[in-house]
Amino acid sequence: MPAVTKSAPGKIILFGEHAVVYGRPAIAVPVNQVKARVIVMANPESDPGVVWVLAPDIEINLLLNDLSREHPLSIAVDQVLKSFGIKRLPACTIKITSTIPIAGGLGSGAAITVALIRALSAFLGQSISDEQVCESTFEVEKYFHGSPSGIDNTVITYERPVYYQKGEPIEFIEIPKSLWFVIGDTGISSPTSMTVSDVRKAWNSKTAYYENVFDQIGEITVQAKNKVKSGYFTDLGSLMEANHICLQRIGVSSKELDILVTAAIEAGAIGAKMSGGGRGGNMIALVHANQVSQVAQSLIDRGATNTIITEVYPTRI
Ligand code: MEV
Repeated sequence: MPAVTKSAPGKIILFGEHAVVYGRPAIAVPVNQVKARVIVMANPESDPGVVWVLAPDIEINLLLNDLSREHPLSIAVDQVLKSFGIKRLPACTIKITSTIPIAGGLGSGAAITVALIRALSAFLGQSISDEQVCESTFEVEKYFHGSPSGIDNTVITYERPVYYQKGEPIEFIEIPKSLWFVIGDTGISSPTSMTVSDVRKAWNSKTAYYENVFDQIGEITVQAKNKVKSGYFTDLGSLMEANHICLQRIGVSSKELDILVTAAIEAGAIGAKMSGGGRGGNMIALVHANQVSQVAQSLIDRGATNTIITEVYPTRI
């Protein structure tokens, strides 16, 4: 069996994080500048079922059987075996690398799972639809953070801008011209599972307040979708600001995120907000193409540990 390599991009949430867990819509786009990559190589000299997992970024170098059954990588492998009615993998080595920051709100977990499911399927000589990849990744995501909305696995599987609402058919968004973003990393690791579970606790004790903020986020997201589709990107600035204020009100922004959001606006960005789970991780700034360097520099000057510049290409449905 030849070695198989598959990769999957990161993602950013443009509008609607957290509210999307509670049934409101959200918009996300893939980030192709960062990738998770999975290589599966046969080990013909070993017995079937002997599977090595190497993931140097997270210091994993062990046999699959020695990983906890609850580990997302084990669950992803089980999903693949279940899909194809197979009991165990042929002897192989699975090598996982990623340039997507871990626990930074850029979808690193979902990207690893998507790449792993596709690589194992190809290694087994099985074809797998995008729909199956998306569903299996969602199952793994549930182990990661309890009540995911499903937006991360969707945007990363399809690698296209999506307008996503739980329980509704996936809507891909047509983008008439390029959108440019500078992504600024606070350098603070913040697992989405924790912010999602904290928001759940707060929602349980102050339901009416949270529902009201989620409604506002939902309305902002609907307006944003229309602006994105029509190409009126400058109108997105005030919507990003309004969405960021809502996220502050539900306690998922942080001092560091707020500083970077302000820095981006002061440097001339069209708009800026935190993105993803929050409390750390990354923020995004929407910019004109000729502003990327000045905004990126200003984020670094104000404490960002890294920046990523990404262009979301025009799409046709
Ligand atoms: C994570 O990228 C976005 C959240 O809304 C969680 C989710 O939708 O599953 C915070």
